[in-house]
Amino acid sequence: MLKDILKNILDQGKKDILMCRTLEELENIKIKYLSRKSELMSLSKNFSQLKPNEKKEIGNLFNLVKNTLIKTYEEQKQRLDKISINFDPEHPGKQINIGREHLLTNSLVKIRNIFINLGFNIYDYHQIVNEKENFDYLNIPRNHPARDLWDTLWIENKNKKSDYLLRTHTTAFQHYILTKYRPPLRFATIGKVFRYEATDKSHDFEFYQIDALSLSETTNLQNLKYTIEKFFINFFHKDIKIRFRPSYFPFVEPGLEVDINCIFCNNKKCATCKFSGWIEVAGAGMIHPSVLAQAKIDYKKYRGFAFGIGIDRLIMLKHNINDIRILHSSDLRFINQF
Ligand code: PHE
Repeated sequence: MLKDILKNILDQGKKDILMCRTLEELENIKIKYLSRKSELMSLSKNFSQLKPNEKKEIGNLFNLVKNTLIKTYEEQKQRLDKISINFDPEHPGKQINIGREHLLTNSLVKIRNIFINLGFNIYDYHQIVNEKENFDYLNIPRNHPARDLWDTLWIENKNKKSDYLLRTHTTAFQHYILTKYRPPLRFATIGKVFRYEATDKSHDFEFYQIDALSLSETTNLQNLKYTIEKFFINFFHKDIKIRFRPSYFPFVEPGLEVDINCIFCNNKKCATCKFSGWIEVAGAGMIHPSVLAQAKIDYKKYRGFAFGIGIDRLIMLKHNINDIRILHSSDLRFINQF
């Protein structure tokens, strides 16, 4: 009888102890089974009434139950101690610094999407191109004075200047597109370009450009104007006016310089627009017949527009940044602002 009670206490006690999931639960179970008022301990009060041979047997069993429960309790406590260190729900968490897109990356993605929405295919072209792509196919032959406009970083091969260079403008993708695809076509490329020049607040030796071209039997200057206007309105989220001025680029005829009305003073004239009310933002024009001819496109049948925009300057205008070099630096004080 007493034996059965003790065995039950042992079985149930072990189970209850092992079921505990928190230290608090465990302490309560310990009180239930091992405190002076517990069932087990109160049993021992009756031992004096037992016969001597029973006393020994029951006494041993009692000790076994008690010691086993104590041992089980201690093992479970150790287990829970460990878990509670790992999973203390009130332990203050570690701050995780989650990164985000750099202002440049973010702007490049936005620009890309604007062009996709305007019906352009986006083509990522190489940063290293050959001399022909960067110059000759674009109507800039070797001794043409226009080569001076693009101070070039040449790639050396065994200490000798090679035919390869870091593209000085994204327009270098044109010949490839014109030979690979047939009109009607509409393509844009976005990427880094490189110039061998000293840096200052408004010049860096590397910066981003977007170049777009559209070619069909009917493409005209009006289409060019529409596309550029829509791009700037989408980029600045403002109603932007644009102005064309005649200019010279060997690969377009006529060649144009594109200005937008100053977004800071709205044509009232301020320091940013050098008190002119306008800001120069792009080069553009109708693709030169000889550029089309070199890509074996019938220039009497097809005509196209092309334009190129410096992206860093646009970002600077949009976010009021006064030094281009900071865009390519990794200065967190700058980066964290966006
Ligand atoms: N590639 C010219 C530049 O870097 C811009 C341009 C592109 C002009 C296309 C006309 C047509 O300044």
